[in-house]
Amino acid sequence: MKIFIAGATGRVATKLIDDLLADGHQIVAGSRHPEQQAKKDGVTPVKLDLHASVAALAKLVEGSQAIYFTAGSRGKDLLQTDAFGAVKLAKAAEQDGIKRFIMLSSLFALEPEKWEATASLRGIMDYNIAKFFADNYLVAQSQLNYTILQPSVLKETAGQGTITIDDGQDGENSIEDVAETLAEILEHDNTVGKVIKMRAGTTPIATALSRV
Ligand SMILES: NC(=O)c1ccc[n+]([C@@H]2O[C@H](COP(=O)([O-])OP(=O)(O)OC[C@H]3O[C@@H](n4cnc5c(N)ncnc54)[C@H](OP(=O)(O)O)[C@@H]3O)[C@@H](O)[C@H]2O)c1
Repeated sequence: MKIFIAGATGRVATKLIDDLLADGHQIVAGSRHPEQQAKKDGVTPVKLDLHASVAALAKLVEGSQAIYFTAGSRGKDLLQTDAFGAVKLAKAAEQDGIKRFIMLSSLFALEPEKWEATASLRGIMDYNIAKFFADNYLVAQSQLNYTILQPSVLKETAGQGTITIDDGQDGENSIEDVAETLAEILEHDNTVGKVIKMRAGTTPIATALSRV
């Protein structure tokens, strides 16, 4: 497949690209600084700014068969990047007839009743509101074949190739395992229309996904 990745220079996307290349896919790597994209066969860097219009984004993603959203502003531009940037990219996909859309979200983003449960969740209230806006668009308003992956905290630790998927408890995730899970989601059609909460665990990634 030809796959478009938004936020392609990020920590998760960098691993995701390697996983998707290993699966034989071609990558169009979108970021604001395409010159910083690691040069690899099968990867075409393009300039993406999520402040762009839906029409401009539709032009950029044209010809792709699937889209990943792994971008994020680290709290600096939540409305225009994490929230509306994601919605505009989903609208661009719809405009182009690209059905498959895989969103990297965050644990409990669609459950506002949990956002005050702990001090760390209270500290990311604005972030959760932004992710709610984007996730809720996919679930409630789009006609896309979406999958939303909601990991708990990301850590730069070695991947185990094993995870837990359940109703969600706070925990941690290796970025490598999150990237591998995102790549595997594309191979599992049963994940279409699903919101998947993950953290570190003991179930092989493909097995865990086959059960959702
Ligand atoms: N940190 C956590 O514990 C945690 C937990 C669960 C989920 N998540 C989610 O996982 C996502 C990815 O994490 P990560 O660590 O890989 O993030 P990251 O390294 O900060 O990467 C974010 C990417 O988004 C791009 N970006 C930012 N603003 C943009 C814009 N306006 N237009 C286009 N691209 C833009 C960045 O590139 P440039 O800035 O160079 O353009 C970068 O490529 C986060 O954004 C967050 O939503 C994080």
